[in-house]
Amino acid sequence: MFRFENVSQEPLHNLNFTIEKNEKVILFGPSGAGKSTLLFLFNRLSDPEEGSIYYNDNPIQECSITDLRKNVGLVLQSPNLFPGTVLDNLKYGPELFGEWEDNQAETLLDYVQLPKSFLNREVDQLSGGEQQRVSLARTLANSPEVLLLDEPTSALDYRTADEIEDVLEELIRVHQLTMVMVTHNLNQARRLGDRGLFIMDGRLQEDGKFPDMLDHPKTNKLSEFLEE
Ligand SMILES: Nc1ncnc2c1ncn2[C@@H]1O[C@H](COP(=O)(O)OP(=O)(O)O)[C@@H](O)[C@H]1O
Ligand SMILES: [Mg+2]
Repeated sequence: MFRFENVSQEPLHNLNFTIEKNEKVILFGPSGAGKSTLLFLFNRLSDPEEGSIYYNDNPIQECSITDLRKNVGLVLQSPNLFPGTVLDNLKYGPELFGEWEDNQAETLLDYVQLPKSFLNREVDQLSGGEQQRVSLARTLANSPEVLLLDEPTSALDYRTADEIEDVLEELIRVHQLTMVMVTHNLNQARRLGDRGLFIMDGRLQEDGKFPDMLDHPKTNKLSEFLEE
């Protein structure tokens, strides 16, 4: 689904890996390692300084950015909603493509386990966890095949984070999504991921299966990182 060949983008050097459809990949490593930098290459929020990225076997820069961002949805740490109601936020993306139907709204809220009474609530009156659910629902409104997540629960308290994990786990299963998630939370990584890319000192240090690579790291760098 994605192939990175000799990709460099400050602070990352010479990344090579392939992500297959339906994989659930965790990007992890120290702060400042370049995890967000790497994630943003998947939907062309940035383009690499060197190397090539292929999406479904096509050079990524030949895909239209709108189609790419529709198919490869991104959810950030802070909910990226605009002022207005939940409904305003949900239909914004699909309406740009003339694809919105009002009966979609309830389904989208169902996906993220919010009651339909939320449709007319103002987003700035919702809790952080509720806003993050709406962000997810908004991304799902575009029917993506890949979900990019950049520390989606790190701004939330422990219990709310756990609830969002439930929602994510179910969504990924039901919609057969391919996931690439940055997280610092290794319990979350074990729960949601089936593969890890460990990034440190500008390099992809280890690429392995979860949870094996956490239990039996092959490199000193990963062992030391896990001990901290
Ligand atoms: N265009 C750039 N040129 C030089 N350094 C950059 C550039 N973009 C980001 N960085 C630096 O790269 C590092 C990695 O950033 P980031 O990807 O946000 O790390 P992470 O998400 O792993 O914490 C940061 O120290 C940041 O300041
Ligand atoms: Mg980051």
